[in-house]
Amino acid sequence: MKTRSRPPPGVPARHHFETSEVTLVAPWISSAHEGLRVAQISDVHVGPGTPAARVRRAVERINAFRPHLALLTGDYVTRSKRPVARLREQLGGIAAPTFVVLGNHDHQVGAAAIRSSFESIGYTVLQNEHAVVRVGRAPVVVVGVDDGHTGHDDVGRALHRAPEAATRLVLAHTPVTARKLPEHGRLVCFSGHTHGGQIVIPRLTEAVLRLADQPFVRGLYEVRGNLLYVNRGLGFGRGSPLLRVGSPPEVALFTLSRKAPGRRLPAAAEERRRAEEEGQ
Ligand SMILES: [Fe+2]
Repeated sequence: MKTRSRPPPGVPARHHFETSEVTLVAPWISSAHEGLRVAQISDVHVGPGTPAARVRRAVERINAFRPHLALLTGDYVTRSKRPVARLREQLGGIAAPTFVVLGNHDHQVGAAAIRSSFESIGYTVLQNEHAVVRVGRAPVVVVGVDDGHTGHDDVGRALHRAPEAATRLVLAHTPVTARKLPEHGRLVCFSGHTHGGQIVIPRLTEAVLRLADQPFVRGLYEVRGNLLYVNRGLGFGRGSPLLRVGSPPEVALFTLSRKAPGRRLPAAAEERRRAEEEGQ
């Protein structure tokens, strides 16, 4: 994984985010999807917590990547309904088929209003349902599991009749939902929710999150034979009353591959899991 962390000249730090460029090695994907480009942002928290310029720069960065698909993985708002009116102007304009799941804050503020706001700009909102989109000469199944933190998740319903002979991507706001996915289900799951720990004190933050049954904090994991990527989210941090320490905002840009030269990422993910266990 490569990360780009320094703001370009003239860009204030509060408008900046890290770009994670990740090769996801998933040997089971369709050969038609070797090199598939997927962009993800999460936990935008539109409102006073996130400078609008940061969100617009993130949309520009996604478009510069020319993704085949874009994924938004929940928590577009925080507590107030007012930012719902700003979702379209801040998150609109992604130049790829864009799929959306809701997070716990979205349910607390108003799921129906947020859903229709995204639908009005042509984005597909998935609440325990899936969509099939043709990319190149093969289908991609995009499965959206609703938020698990508020008890809205229903993996069985989301996967019901989802074609298996396809590249299958899952969106689920809370990373622990990945435990509910079918074992070795040939799935790549994209999540958020944790803000990468928000305030990261080495070892302590992850230990506390593990106690809270949130062992998947940021980056790549292998969970029951499926891949899981936990995005640190775009919202909060500098320019916000809610700081981030050691966990900068993130835009994640993925390239899917059936094989990678040299080191395989699932093995790297396993190694990282072992290192984390040893660090307990
Ligand atoms: Fe959340």
